Amino acid sequence: MSKDGIAEFKEKILKKGNLPTHIAIIMDGNGRWAKRRGLPRTAGHKAGVKAVKRVVKAAGDLGISVLTLFTFSQENWRRPKNEVSAIMKLLYETTKREINELDKNNVKLITTGRIEEFSPRRREILQEARERTKNNTGLILNLALNYGGRTEILDAVKKIAGDVKNKRLDPEELSEEIFSHYLYTKGLPDPDLLIRTSGEMRISNFLLWQTSYTELYITDVLWPNFSAKDFYEAIWDYQNRERRFGRV
Ligand code: FPP
Repeated sequence: MSKDGIAEFKEKILKKGNLPTHIAIIMDGNGRWAKRRGLPRTAGHKAGVKAVKRVVKAAGDLGISVLTLFTFSQENWRRPKNEVSAIMKLLYETTKREINELDKNNVKLITTGRIEEFSPRRREILQEARERTKNNTGLILNLALNYGGRTEILDAVKKIAGDVKNKRLDPEELSEEIFSHYLYTKGLPDPDLLIRTSGEMRISNFLLWQTSYTELYITDVLWPNFSAKDFYEAIWDYQNRERRFGRV
């Protein structure tokens, strides 16, 4: 699509209104993209970073409030060691390289997941980026790192049990709203739209509590090929759905 075509699409989306406030993405297909080109899987992740940049820019341009990217799952540690190190290296190098630009564009970077299990040096880079952008008021870019949905729920239950034991919480008062304050995503709205690339029909342990009423959009496009236009198409599809939340 030409630059003008994209600008028109953007106008159409903005005119329609009812933008999703929070979009979450399962970025899948880097490995397949590389394999089809006879390249190592790590080349797919490198190309995936370019897609991340395109989508962050497109989300910021539209005025989306929160973009959560499933960047590294707890299960991803089980990949070959060299692939895990390559993804980590890309993550830290990209964060260091892009932080000025993100900050300039008023993006607030946050993380969701057990980053305390990362090495101190890696944690520091992420913490610095968070600290540096904490007062920004534009797009919230939420990187899910070392994230697992069931672990998040278990961590919440452990904290709740501790608060009940210390009499800081009356179990009778526990509501969905209070429970959600114990999750890593405390303070963020639930995703309105979840996009998954490369055609797999799975949630893969991502935001299990938060996606109970989220609209799903699954595309066959492999993540490294995912363009601003593909992103806009997902949003347009969402805008033309009827959300009933169990009502008629
Ligand atoms: C899924 O493709 C991709 C990942 C598990 C890693 C995503 C990481 C990045 C794009 C790099 C760092 C990101 C940021 C935010 C700077 P896959 O390997 O599962 O693909 P496959 O299913 O085709 O094998």
